[in-house]
Amino acid sequence: MRVKKAVFPVAGLGTRFLPATKAMAKEMLTVVDKPIIQYAVEEAFDAGIEQIIFVTGRGKKALEDHFDRSYELETTLKSKGKTDLLHMLQDLVPRTGTIVYTRQHDPLGLGHAIWCARDIVGDEPFAVLLADDMIQTPGKPVLAEMVEKFDRFRASIAAVMEVEKDQTDKYGILDAVSLEEDIVKIKDMVEKPDPEDAPSNLAIVGRYILTPKIWDYLGRKQAGAGGEIQLTDAMKGLLTEQPIFGYKFKGTRFDCGDKVGFQMANLAFSLERPEMRGKLLDFIKTIKS
Ligand code: G1P
Repeated sequence: MRVKKAVFPVAGLGTRFLPATKAMAKEMLTVVDKPIIQYAVEEAFDAGIEQIIFVTGRGKKALEDHFDRSYELETTLKSKGKTDLLHMLQDLVPRTGTIVYTRQHDPLGLGHAIWCARDIVGDEPFAVLLADDMIQTPGKPVLAEMVEKFDRFRASIAAVMEVEKDQTDKYGILDAVSLEEDIVKIKDMVEKPDPEDAPSNLAIVGRYILTPKIWDYLGRKQAGAGGEIQLTDAMKGLLTEQPIFGYKFKGTRFDCGDKVGFQMANLAFSLERPEMRGKLLDFIKTIKS
């Protein structure tokens, strides 16, 4: 079965970006001139996803408005003859019914957020995208590559990358064996282990394709690391029944949930714009370390 649905857990409070996120959803923080959520949604559509499921919470109205028509703006742009901007705004709005919203009422963890989408996704494989993880790739976006891998392996797959050994307590960490140049087969996984307990420095980043069997394990709602219901723990359960693979993507991942990572993403994505690149590089040269 094809991967047609993608779940976006977007209920997080974004406390690391206060006061910016006091009255604004953290997913609306902008990288260059687009909110980070838009990059992730575009990546999903590029990968052939047909339905987006946002698991939201209180204070996330701006997300819904961002992907909706804005008649006032459109009318103004039209009357001023700004057709390019008008078309850009109109293209942003997915076909009616493509985005579904549900709410996570309590902040019980990533595993719980995804479980909130169980009845909307149903009995089919689905993708999960964590918008905070922005990935710049030389070729196809990561999710499109993963959909191809899923079609080949017919099994769950997560994007993975090597992290500094002292950073393992920020990630789901794998015990895995290499299968192909860019594919590992996962043997075990643990959420946010201390470096001395980590089985490796191979970490999961925020792109997953999961088989519907994961619902059985997410439904157990057992609290794990940090007292939260963790996706990693449900995947560990799934491993007892089905294989799970890791895709070592080519590219650079930016943790936009972190201030430094977010600024790096802004710089890296700005440098991709020809009209900005020269001026930014000139400015960087003037900075004394
Ligand atoms: C989540 C997952 C973790 C994964 C990480 C990637 O953690 O629980 O397994 O490695 O995303 O960004 P979070 O960053 O939400 O704490």
